[in-house]
Amino acid sequence: MSLGRTVKLNTGASIPQLGFGTWQAEPGQVEAAVYEALKAGYKHIDFAKVYGNQKEISNALKRAFTELGIKREDLFLVSKLWNSQHRPEHVAAALDDCLAELGLDYLDLYLVHFPVAFDERGDVNQNLFPLQDKSDHPDGDVKILDDISIVDTWKAMTKLPKEKARAIGVSNHTKEHLQALIDATGVTPAANQIERHPRLLQPELIKFAAEKGIHITEYSAFGNNMLGLPLLVQHDTVKEVAAANKATPAQVILAWAQVGGHSVIPKSVTASRIQENFREIELSKEDFEKIEEIGKKEPRRFNIPYVANKPRWPINIFGEPEEKDAPHKVVV
Ligand SMILES: NC(=O)c1ccc[n+]([C@@H]2O[C@H](COP(=O)([O-])OP(=O)(O)OC[C@H]3O[C@@H](n4cnc5c(N)ncnc54)[C@H](OP(=O)(O)O)[C@@H]3O)[C@@H](O)[C@H]2O)c1
Repeated sequence: MSLGRTVKLNTGASIPQLGFGTWQAEPGQVEAAVYEALKAGYKHIDFAKVYGNQKEISNALKRAFTELGIKREDLFLVSKLWNSQHRPEHVAAALDDCLAELGLDYLDLYLVHFPVAFDERGDVNQNLFPLQDKSDHPDGDVKILDDISIVDTWKAMTKLPKEKARAIGVSNHTKEHLQALIDATGVTPAANQIERHPRLLQPELIKFAAEKGIHITEYSAFGNNMLGLPLLVQHDTVKEVAAANKATPAQVILAWAQVGGHSVIPKSVTASRIQENFREIELSKEDFEKIEEIGKKEPRRFNIPYVANKPRWPINIFGEPEEKDAPHKVVV
């Protein structure tokens, strides 16, 4: 069973370290998966407008409240502002829309999903990835707006009613982006949700977040990617550590991920894996270091929208070598 470890956000609220993800949990599968997760005892669940499945998830939440006797206040529910909702005057309505999709009165944490503003004309529900008129890329290029800065959007986030968004934070932000938000507003994001796994350690960003009191939530902990590469549960070192601990590779990765007080949000639509991932283990210092060695020897960021996404996002977000030719950069 889970130890139900929690850590404090800079708002004073407690966030459970072991959570549950819902990206690529297809309609038709996601209601059962979220219900199964709530039944297994997960309290921290991660949603997003762009996953396109929040309405279905609302059914799982409703059923859990009535059939399992789970109370809203015992859960920690997170969702995210989408890229085409960045214009400051759209941010409050975007939160209301998100709450309506989920059938909730409030979120425990509302995040800016990416430091990227997409063209916002038309109905966001009809077109989450608005395309540029002309593109020479075979999958097309998303239309990026350069007239909305991440500071503009963050200022609007800071004005959201606390009774609807109890804490506010960001996702996919680098140290430089975070610093710009803090400098401009004096409001430090409560959390930064980032790609982090044994092949992407990000020590500088982790250190910066700790110094500023920004909680780190790790996504794609198993190395999920849009490139079709094998997951890290298949990595030999992870498998060796798992065998030595009589645990599974997934449990080893999730234990590693929580060291340092981070939260982690593994996704699964498979009941047996949902249960497996909720069984927490402790790693020795030696085993922790063996896992860290993977990232030191084979560093790799998988989720780079300029490379991996279809349609392509023509923007340099993370400063990775693969993004160097992207025509847009994050506007601070
Ligand atoms: N903020 C962002 O930009 C962002 C980006 C990516 C993800 N996220 C969030 O983070 C969550 C997790 O990341 P992710 O979905 O990219 O990937 P992930 O959790 O690293 O991996 C999910 C994959 O691992 C498989 N899996 C789950 N448990 C397993 C186990 N015990 N053994 C073997 N395979 C297992 C799942 O398969 P089955 O489902 O088939 O069981 C699925 O294919 C997302 O769902 C989303 O909520 C946020």
